[in-house]
Parts: sequence; C-alpha cells; structure tokens
Amino acid sequence: MTGPVLVTGAAGGLGTALRGGLPERGWALRSLDVVPIEDPRPGEEHLVADAADLSAMTDAAQGAAAVVHLAGILGEATWPAIVHSHIETTRSALEAARRAGVPRVVLASSNHASGFTPRPASGLLTEADAPPRPDTYYGVAKVTMEALGSLYADRYGLDVVCLRIGSAFPRPTTVRQLATWLSPGDTVRLVDAALRAPSPGFRVVWGVSANTRGWWDLTAARALGYEPADDAEAYAAELIAAQGEADPADPVHARVGGEYTLPGVDVDVVEAAQGPVQPSGGPR
Ligand SMILES: NC(=O)c1ccc[n+]([C@@H]2O[C@H](COP(=O)([O-])OP(=O)(O)OC[C@H]3O[C@@H](n4cnc5c(N)ncnc54)[C@H](O)[C@@H]3O)[C@@H](O)[C@H]2O)c1
Repeated sequence: MTGPVLVTGAAGGLGTALRGGLPERGWALRSLDVVPIEDPRPGEEHLVADAADLSAMTDAAQGAAAVVHLAGILGEATWPAIVHSHIETTRSALEAARRAGVPRVVLASSNHASGFTPRPASGLLTEADAPPRPDTYYGVAKVTMEALGSLYADRYGLDVVCLRIGSAFPRPTTVRQLATWLSPGDTVRLVDAALRAPSPGFRVVWGVSANTRGWWDLTAARALGYEPADDAEAYAAELIAAQGEADPADPVHARVGGEYTLPGVDVDVVEAAQGPVQPSGGPR
C-alpha cells in the first residue's frame, strides 16, 4: 500500500502511541484531531478538523493508504455527545474512505460493545460468543461502529477491521486491567497487523495484550498477524497488594465490560456529572 495512514483522534492516548510506533514500521502519518497535534514527528502531516465533518474527512482521506479511526470521547457521555463523537465520526470516516477510494479502515471499537456478556464458566471468550450486548451509550456507539463497518465492507468492498480494545493505557491501574490491558507496544503491533493483513474483509477482534489473567480469546487477532509481546502480570503483585485479588463473583470481573456494567454509569449519573444535554451535540 502506498500513501500515508490517516489517523483520526491522533492527539489522544492511542493516537500518540501509534504516532510513535507506526513510522518505525514503515507507515507515513497523516494525523487529524479537533485539537492541534502539539509534537508532530518529522514528515508527519497534521490537520485540525472535526472527524464528523464529511467534507473535511474526504479531503483528508485523499491519497491515503488506510484510515485508522480513533476519534471519539473515551468512555460514557451524554447521548448527543456520543452520537456526534462516535456515530457521526464513524460514518464520516467510512464514507470519506469510500469517496476517496481508500481501501481499508481500522476502527477503534471496544469491549463495551459486548459489556454485559458474562465470563464463560471455563475457557476463553471468542468474539463469536460475544455478540452485541452494550453496557452503555458508549457501547451502543461501538455496536453501531461495527455495524457501519459491516455495511461498508459488504456494500462497497472496503476492508474493515474492528478492534474491540480492552484497556489501552501506558500501564494497568486496576486488578481488572490485569486481564484487559493493551500495552502501547501491542497497540502498535495490533494496528500494524490490521493494516497489513491480506484482504481481511470485515473482521471483529479483541484487542488486548498476552495477559496471563486474560480471558478473551486472541485466536482471531493472531490470525490477522498480531503477535502480542506484553503481559500485565508484571504489575500483578503491586496491584493486588493495593486492591485485593479479583473476586470471580464480582460483576466487575464476571462481565466483559467490568465497571461499566455497574450503576455508576447510569444515564442520570452521567448527565448530572457532565452537565445539561447540548442540543447540537459536539465533541466533548
Ligand atoms: N483507551 C482505551 O482503553 C480504549 C478502549 C476501548 C476503545 N477505545 C477507543 O479508542 C479510541 C481512542 O481512545 P484514546 O484512549 O486514545 O482516547 P483519548 O481521549 O485519549 O483520545 C481521543 C482523541 O479523539 C479526539 N476527538 C474527539 N472527538 C473528535 C472529533 N469529533 N473529531 C476529531 N477528533 C476528535 C480527542 O481530541 C482526542 O485527542 C476511542 O474511540 C476510544 O473509544 C479506547
């Protein structure tokens, strides 16, 4: 593939990891965010735009080899904010790719698309055993993201790889994340695999590191070419000493979505915390 990779939400946590790691793997970068990229790498193109702006996204996608769509609010938010920052931007990313002739889109989905799925009594959970079962409006947006990706793959022949990411942070900070962590290095490995896999068509794969305590099956991700190198176990002793062992009966550990399945992210709680609903939505 020739041309840069258009990365939306490039100023954020995952975007920063990718902007550091993808060039080492031979990818040129075209970064886009609603906020400026403060530290552009040598040769990096960088744009300020709202990813929900189809015209701006279509311009940005011209000549790109692929789109990696990360833009969006990280976590639960009011409905208008979720619709704008996730659903509108995902449709825009896919439609811009179609209009600009970009053959591949990688979408940052989430475990919260299937957050109410229980942990199996034994063995690992495959993506096929975790159909849409969102735990929040955020999860609904990720289900919609995957549905839009499926539409653009089937109707327009785009390759669309949806990464159901666990907890992508510099290091795990909770006992749950000993199972769900996706390290920065493995984020780069996973996205690189999603960009390179020959003719993947439409895929949905878990995005986590090779965590000793993980229970999401990585067979499908490995089939793309993903070879995770990190394991959250290096942080286990410290986190368990501070927070205690995971209780398997605790919903936080017994459901895919963990804390997001608890009442703390009920609609009224989120709206009270985030202020009045903004009629026009808008990124938050
Ligand atoms: N970090 C995780 O653990 C995790 C887990 C599952 C899924 N994800 C998904 O991965 C993506 C990136 O997550 P992150 O951790 O980097 O989040 P982040 O909050 O660090 O970064 C998100 C970036 O998106 C930008 N953005 C928001 N709305 C935008 C818009 N309308 N147009 C352009 N840019 C916009 C923000 O300015 C920000 O720079 C998100 O879609 C998130 O839902 C993240």
